[in-house]
Amino acid sequence: MKFGFIMEFICCLLVLISVINVQCCDFDLVSREDWHADPPTDVEKMSNPVPFVIIHHSFMPPACYSAEDCEKSMKKMQEMHQITNGWNDVGYSFAVGGDGRAYEGRGWFNVGAHAPTYNNKSIGICIIGDWRTELPPPQQLSTVLKLINFGVRKGYIAKDYTLHGHRQVRNGTECPGNALLEEISTWEHFSPEAEMYFPPPPK
Ligand SMILES: *[C@@H]1O[C@H](CO)[C@@H](O)[C@H](O)[C@H]1NC(C)=O
Ligand SMILES: *[C@@H]1O[C@H](CO)[C@@H](O)[C@H](O)[C@H]1NC(C)=O
Ligand SMILES: [Zn+2]
Repeated sequence: MKFGFIMEFICCLLVLISVINVQCCDFDLVSREDWHADPPTDVEKMSNPVPFVIIHHSFMPPACYSAEDCEKSMKKMQEMHQITNGWNDVGYSFAVGGDGRAYEGRGWFNVGAHAPTYNNKSIGICIIGDWRTELPPPQQLSTVLKLINFGVRKGYIAKDYTLHGHRQVRNGTECPGNALLEEISTWEHFSPEAEMYFPPPPK
């Protein structure tokens, strides 16, 4: 009787722990294992909470709208960054697909390769697609915000973080695209003033 009760209790506890583990958030966060990422060749730790969030678009690969296609986009980006560019890993901390899911890149704790001078103090989020003239679908944008808010709640991103588009901190890139930059400029925490301000390249 007593033994049965204890077993039931342990069982409940295990179920609870696994539920908490799986349902980390109010959005789908796809782990590296789940998109079959290759291992990084090196890892450099960052100190959290980080004060910046930098938004990118992928430009290439283009937008993806299904789990299957977005996983392929992640593989493609990792190949471009790791093999073609010779970096340690896919450059972004996270990417978000048109399937409405967030994909783990370097994650919350490792220095990225997405915005020189900001890499060791920011979470870099790539919104997969080319957003120069079109906007990402609503489910993609809302997942970006949920991901950022999750990072803030967990203490990985500073509560008073500053949000920039890549172009604001990097001379000569159009990233994250005109349409997307205009969109994120309406978001809370966006700041038009970056430490180094670069005007957009001529159209
Ligand atoms: C980031 O790297 C720069 C250049 O190496 C260094 O000066 C700075 O202190 C680092 N910042 C953090 C938060 O580690
Ligand atoms: C940005 O790059 C352009 C072209 O290389 C250069 O002419 C310009 O001076 C740079 N701007 C800044 C602020 O560094
Ligand atoms: Zn970028």
